[in-house]
This record gives sequence, C-alpha cells and structure tokens, in this order.
Amino acid sequence: MGLRILSTGISLPKTAVSNDRLATMMNTSDQWISSRTGIKYRHIASGDENLTSLSIAAAGTAIERAAIRVSDIDMIICSTMCGDYVFPSLACCVAEALGVTCPAFDLNAACSGFIYALDIADKFISTGRSKHILIVCAEMMSRLCDWTDRSTCVLFGDGAAACVVGEGNAIKYINLTSDGHTHLLYQQVGSGNSPFRPQKEPGFLVMAGQDVFKFAVSKVGQQTELALQALNLTPDDIDLYILHQANKRIIDSARARLEQPEEKFPTNIDRYGNTSSVTIPLLLDELLEAGSIKKGTKLLLSAFGAGMTTGTCVMIWE
Ligand code: UT7
Repeated sequence: MGLRILSTGISLPKTAVSNDRLATMMNTSDQWISSRTGIKYRHIASGDENLTSLSIAAAGTAIERAAIRVSDIDMIICSTMCGDYVFPSLACCVAEALGVTCPAFDLNAACSGFIYALDIADKFISTGRSKHILIVCAEMMSRLCDWTDRSTCVLFGDGAAACVVGEGNAIKYINLTSDGHTHLLYQQVGSGNSPFRPQKEPGFLVMAGQDVFKFAVSKVGQQTELALQALNLTPDDIDLYILHQANKRIIDSARARLEQPEEKFPTNIDRYGNTSSVTIPLLLDELLEAGSIKKGTKLLLSAFGAGMTTGTCVMIWE
C-alpha cells in the first residue's frame, strides 16, 4: 500500500502582472517573452501576502475537499526554496496556523520539490507511519529574483498549491535524481555579520539559461523514457503528461520527442509563469477542477530544477 492524492487546492497572489506591464518597467516586450517562453502573465505577491498566507489558503481548500478533519493530518511537508523565515520551517508555520502538532518540515529540491515530497510521503504511508499527509508547495520567486535582470525576472511567478494524500496505490513509478551542476542555477546567501570572515552581501537568483534549457530537454526526455521502459509502456499509453512549466519550448520538445498530440501536454505557463515546485500541483488542480483527470487516468509527472534535480512519476488516478 502506498498513496493516492485525495484532493488539491491552490492559492495565488491577487496581482497578475502582464508582459506589457513588465515592458513599462524594463527593456523587454510581450513579443520576446511570449515567443521565447509562452508566458503572458505571472502572479506577484504584494502588500501583506506571504508564503504562510498563500500556503494556508491552498491547504484549507485541499483539506476541505479531502473531507478530513484537520486533526487527521499526521505530517506536513512543504516544498519551498525559501520560506518566510530561515527558521522555523514554512511547514511549522502552516502547522501553527492549522492548529496541528504533527511532524512538519520543509524540503528544497527546487522545481522538482513536489515529486520529491510525493516520494517521501509515499514511503511514510507505505510503512504505516502516516495516514494523511499534507503536501504544500509554495514559492515566492519575486523575492529571489533580481528585478534589474530581464533575462530571469520575467520568467517567474509566485503561488502555492497543496494536496492531501492518503492510503492508495496510485504511484506506479517514481524516480529522483540530482546531477550536481550547482552553478547553472543558484542564489547565494550572505556571510552575515560574523567578525571572522569577509562580509558578503546575499545575492539574487542567477541562471545560465541556455545550459538549463539544454539540461531540461535532454534530461526530461531521458527520464521519461526510463519511466516508460520500467513499466513496459509506450508514450501512447500515457493519457496526460504533466510537465514542469518552465518554458513552453521545453514542453514542446518533450512532446515532439515522444510524438504525442498537443492535448496530452496541458500547460498553464501562459497565466502563471514558472512558479518552481508549484507548477505541477497547480496544473493538477486545474485539470481536476476541469474534469480532465478521472479515476484510471494515467499521468506522467516530470520536473527538473536547480541542483540540477529531476523527479519523474507515473501514477494511475484513484
Ligand atoms: O525552473 C527553472 C528552470 N529554468 C528554465 O527552464 C529556463 C531555461 N532557459 C530558458 O528558458 C531560456 O534559455 C530563456 C527563456 C531563459 C532565454 O531564452 P533564449 O532563447 O535562450 O535567449 P538568450 O538567453 O539566448 O538571449 C537571446 C537575446 C539576448 O540578446 P542578444 O545577446 O542576442 O542581443 C538577450 O540579451 O535575448 C535577450 N534577452 C531579452 N530580450 C528581451 C534576454 N532576456 C530578455 C528579455 N526581453 N526579457
């Protein structure tokens, strides 16, 4: 016995920022951003919106839809690259807001975080240690980006997506990797005010865009093929490919490699940009709400991110 996803929920900052609006702030254009990435809008946090508030809203919806009591949750895993505090974890902030006292911790596998969280949750449920686990992916990319660097800040968005998982047998395959190319995508912390080392200011997100693009295209393809081979499936056997929404061109290249029709590769990158580990559960939530995923639907989830990490999962919806 492993897990199945019982429910999902999402929460986005109220402000949607268009490419045209960004073009009034920096030397860019809707034409460049849309044609190179597929992005039209992203939600950006403003006012008192923070990761804890977004996470609680997404979690609240997921818990309500799962029709469980808050006290039934026996573990909280948050996937985030940077919570509201260095410590305590975002998961502990969510636990406090929900009023639960279960184990709660954050994990950082960058954009692959949701699949890493699913794998951990699957192990806790399959050993009987947990019955209901709340997974929350929450990212505030607008805090991490250098808003003077047009080559990165236009790509990302903020948001949160949650799911409640319980006992089931949905996961047929899951594989996690990390390749140790830490210089392709990173953000450095500062040195603090220690008198024992030179002062270094904290940095902003830095990305070697083309190298990340090449990594994604080759690695997503390779990991997808491994998953299909392991289950003795062909690309045609998968109903929906739910890929990390980083760039529409990366998704299109995976689709071309697998020779699959466009409708099997749903996207929402046009409305939300790259929300890191949130992209996959955000898309799952939308597809579930639209009735596109039903009992028996075969899904292949695939993500890549800083590290460089990847996560690949095949599940049959229960
Ligand atoms: O989840 C995290 C993973 N991240 C990713 O998956 C990102 C992967 N990489 C990419 O998606 C693409 O590499 C980018 C979208 C980041 C960049 O697209 P590209 O086709 O590789 O463009 P480029 O970096 O080669 O830049 C082409 C030109 C440059 O100008 P010159 O040197 O040719 O004159 C850039 O300065 O585009 C320029 N440029 C821009 N122009 C207008 C870069 N950013 C912008 C911009 N607006 N925002």
